[in-house]
Amino acid sequence: MTVTKNLLSASGGKPRILTGDRPTGPLHLGHFVGTLQNRVKLQDKYDCFFIIADLHTLTTAPGKDKTSTLNDRARGLVLDYLSVGIDPAKSVIYQQSQVPEVTYLSLIFTNLITVARAQRVPTLKEVMHDLHIQKPSLGLLNYPVLQSADILMFKADLVPVGKDQQSHVEVTREIAKTFNKTYSQVFPIPKALIGDVPTLVGTDGQAKMSKSIGNCIYLSDDATTVTKKVMSMYTDPKRLRATDPGTVEGNPVFIYHDVFNPNKAEIADLKTRYQAGQVGDVEVKQKLALALNKFLDPIRVRRAKYEKNTALLDKIIASGSKIARLQAQKTLVQVLSAMGLN
Ligand code: TRP
Repeated sequence: MTVTKNLLSASGGKPRILTGDRPTGPLHLGHFVGTLQNRVKLQDKYDCFFIIADLHTLTTAPGKDKTSTLNDRARGLVLDYLSVGIDPAKSVIYQQSQVPEVTYLSLIFTNLITVARAQRVPTLKEVMHDLHIQKPSLGLLNYPVLQSADILMFKADLVPVGKDQQSHVEVTREIAKTFNKTYSQVFPIPKALIGDVPTLVGTDGQAKMSKSIGNCIYLSDDATTVTKKVMSMYTDPKRLRATDPGTVEGNPVFIYHDVFNPNKAEIADLKTRYQAGQVGDVEVKQKLALALNKFLDPIRVRRAKYEKNTALLDKIIASGSKIARLQAQKTLVQVLSAMGLN
């Protein structure tokens, strides 16, 4: 075995992974490229837990109008997961609020981190800025602590997240070390697994796909919608006629071709003709729409299977949450016993 000791899971089996999302809305191609395709691969080699972090949404959206649709959005997120091939037979998909033990652990952890340390977490300022929050709630300040509880509850070894979440994994590591030192060795120290895939640009050429900008192609978009979005995509703004030589580099239409069109010969031909002013944007876009729809088709087939069967969907969430909860209860017993609280 070449696996180093700290890569072995606490249970001695496959290393455990924990990651997930807040159910804030439908997932798009940017999510696919950035994390989902990686998760699908990881589930064969690792013991994967995927969290639907619904409680975390309360930190920025505590209103009843938001909370009352949370369960629906959680279902939507699971549907997105299943549609890309996250397999409930291989991985545990669970809803955070169905594992209430996590709040208990989070409460214990709040005593192992200073207010000043929590205030220094860079995402706090970013979220306050982005969402125009002048006075953060205690819950928002506590966001990384709740996330630490998510991760440590399952004794995760690895946490695949984007760069923006790295500071939360750092907090998690500090809390785990402090707990182990203060009481006794209960938690492995998890590592962040930071993806190095470049962010997918939006259909408008902006740096990234974002729901708030409205430049996304969703995994749940039907073929007509995708085609419509592609046909109005931003391309080379300097190119006015099909006979003008165009720029391929940084052109979103070609970036998408490179990522989603498996026909490399077709892309090479389109690029050559584009640069020479021998192809119209319409043809390049039509071919992209075809490629994207072909890419999305198997995702749509899986979605349709679960979409029509809400009972099955709920069963998947409930059974994942049940497995998660049993594990959480085990950890909590160890935690309380380490603290002499049992
Ligand atoms: N904070 C994460 C995000 O917004 C979601 C999340 C909650 C999470 N708990 C987690 C991610 C635990 C990884 C591990 O993307």
